[in-house]
Amino acid sequence: MALTGKHIIVGITGGIAAYKTATLVRLLVKSGAEVQVIMTPNAKEFICPVTLSTLSGKPVISEFFTANTGQWHSHVDLGLWADAMVIAPATASTIGKMANGVADNMLVTTYLSAKAPVFVAPAMDLDMMAHPSTARNIELLRSYGNHIIEPAEGELASHLIGKGRMEEPENIVKVLDGFFSDRQQLSGKRVMITAGPTYERIDPVRFIGNYSTGKMGYAIADEAARRGAKVTLVSGPVALRPKEAGVEVINVESAREMYSECISRFNDCDIAIMTAAVADYAPAEVADKKIKREKDDVPQITLVKNPDIAAALGKEKRQGQMLVGFALETNDESANALGKMKRKNLDMIVMNSLRDAGAGFGTDTNKITVFTRDERVIEYPLKSKPEVACDILDNIALLSACEVSD
Ligand code: CTP
Repeated sequence: MALTGKHIIVGITGGIAAYKTATLVRLLVKSGAEVQVIMTPNAKEFICPVTLSTLSGKPVISEFFTANTGQWHSHVDLGLWADAMVIAPATASTIGKMANGVADNMLVTTYLSAKAPVFVAPAMDLDMMAHPSTARNIELLRSYGNHIIEPAEGELASHLIGKGRMEEPENIVKVLDGFFSDRQQLSGKRVMITAGPTYERIDPVRFIGNYSTGKMGYAIADEAARRGAKVTLVSGPVALRPKEAGVEVINVESAREMYSECISRFNDCDIAIMTAAVADYAPAEVADKKIKREKDDVPQITLVKNPDIAAALGKEKRQGQMLVGFALETNDESANALGKMKRKNLDMIVMNSLRDAGAGFGTDTNKITVFTRDERVIEYPLKSKPEVACDILDNIALLSACEVSD
């Protein structure tokens, strides 16, 4: 079990689903985890702390101080101790506090200090769940890199039927166990990822660029880091930041800058994933002053070829290194993708077609087909980019497992 020896903080807030958290604590302890329960003052109205301290084998923490001894509970130490924190049930109120940094209790204070991944299992009435403020706060939590364990549909405490039931403890344990098993998958691996567009300067105020936003590459970088890899993200100009701590970002502007950063790092990496939309051409000369509009005179821009980064890495690739490319196509998709895999000496190519709605630049979704050097073809339905990142990394893991057993 991936949970053996893991330090888990279980945060309980004041909702009727708190009774289920006793089972969650029991199951986590049974899986070999060490559990520290933190309750909000309201949670104690719903479940008795003695039940939880008995099941976890540790006194429950709820206040900043133990009243009779004056002993201070350090949220900082707790935050550092934890390998993961799971807040179940998470009420609308606590979700709002977490999203906005309202640290008025031990649980939210510990959340703000925690360095470990945080899982949030909301539980509330269906109308509270559907309220725009709850939706916005949950999105904010997601954007901070927290993992939301979506509530299920079913009968709620109000006897109304809808979305808002806390996920069952067995499934929460599965999510945590899956998280820690994934984490081991790329542990010790060094992964380099290119992302975003490149800008090729014309003069100090203009460039040739493209519509890439970097979302796919950043999603892969976050997922690779979550799976335990040491990630370097060589990024063209985008408006994104990685969600996972531990992704090193190297900012570049042009294809040539991206090329030299990648070439100098490739030797040290195990896996390179080239998601960047690299400009194939750059202006032969960059004007040092803004090009002015002259009367009747249309400036001509002569272009020169940029280096092909993926192909250059393909030439340098040694036994045991894996090189993955992307192909965004508009026609003859499979033939073009397979041609690129061969020409650039890639081990795998991820094809997306602009003919598919929801695929390509700028969207939050993608629809991919994966081709591998061992001639597997896997076609996926339309998914969110983080889900697509998981599919891509699953295929990489499978391919490296095949390599080891070859
Ligand atoms: N690529 C690269 N450097 C370039 C061009 C592309 O590293 N100068 C990488 C991309 O990041 C991608 C793969 O090569 O992983 C294929 O990119 P694509 O633009 O589709 O390929 P090209 O070889 O430029 O082919 P074309 O533009 O003719 O379709």
